[in-house]
Amino acid sequence: MKIFSQAPTNIAVIKYWGKNPKFEDYHIPTKSSLSFSVLDFYTKTYLDFKPGNGTIFLELNNKKINPNSEEFLYIKNFFEKLSTLIKEIKNYDYSIKTENNFPTAAGFASSASGVAALAVAIAKVFELSEPKIFEKYFNSEQKISSIARIGSGSAARSVPSAGGCVLWSKPKQDLTTQDLNKIFFCSDAKTLFPPNHWEDLRIFYIQLEKKEKKIKSRSGMKQSVSSCPIYSNWVDYEENILLPSIIKAIEKKDFENFAKSTIKASNGLHAIMYYTFPRIRYLTDKSEQIIELVLDINSKSTKLAYSFDAGPNPVLFTLKDYQEEILDALSSVVNKKDIFITKPGAGAFAKVI
Ligand code: DP6
Repeated sequence: MKIFSQAPTNIAVIKYWGKNPKFEDYHIPTKSSLSFSVLDFYTKTYLDFKPGNGTIFLELNNKKINPNSEEFLYIKNFFEKLSTLIKEIKNYDYSIKTENNFPTAAGFASSASGVAALAVAIAKVFELSEPKIFEKYFNSEQKISSIARIGSGSAARSVPSAGGCVLWSKPKQDLTTQDLNKIFFCSDAKTLFPPNHWEDLRIFYIQLEKKEKKIKSRSGMKQSVSSCPIYSNWVDYEENILLPSIIKAIEKKDFENFAKSTIKASNGLHAIMYYTFPRIRYLTDKSEQIIELVLDINSKSTKLAYSFDAGPNPVLFTLKDYQEEILDALSSVVNKKDIFITKPGAGAFAKVI
């Protein structure tokens, strides 16, 4: 039987950077994060399955992926981890054909949309073929979001079908258990505001560099948790002050406060990276140039926010009314063809085809 699924990429305004070291493999975040599901960048996945023993065939952007390659092992590892709790995962063989509608090499994260699309497709497998297992592990979007989290933390935020502004919450209590069921389902994401809540919000992806990042997020954040001297202060500040204030700004569509909080959160993430040992630096001179431009524009009135992940490419937030003016201002620093304008969109879905 064949399943089709689709999941958007997401851009975090309050970042995820660190896991509980006691449960490293299960991606339990040290703090909550907040993102927007992105309308125009997504992964499409075709999943064929039949009774078997967990064999995987993988095709990425129309290219067969070698079982020894990094991408293949990444997906295999996801299935292996799922099967530690859900043994029935191994009852099937899977043929996965997946494609991104954005250039993977462009430095835009693809793990979130890719893993989310796979998670909703796997949930569909069990809905169709093993209702009891489905009931136990997949019968809500929040559970499927947790399942996606096991593959890649930020993928949890690409799952909620309503998309828009999504909150991925850290666990409510400190985890002391070895109970895998609790470890799996202790932290998930849900939509706070649907995409049409803030119709005028615009998201600019700017491609400054096409190169892959040198330090992967996974190892970088591990280094930060163990070596950054101000890590826990950052976690407390973001969880208790910045997150509530940005949620309030989004709720009220208060662009000025939204932009200030977004900029602070991006600065905070990169400060933590810089104060990690050994130092992690993703921003380049070109990135700094964009930051200067944003600050310059905002010195008159707040029209822009920047946000950087584990790479040099900025994501900017603005409002529809300022879009043309911002594009003009950016043209002094970047080529127009390297700017992709989009807005918040829906989340993931899966269907039988
Ligand atoms: C900087 O989700 O890629 O983009 O959980 O190890 O797979 P793993 O990490 P990943 O980390 C993304 C980090 C980030 C910030 C964010 O998206 O919140």
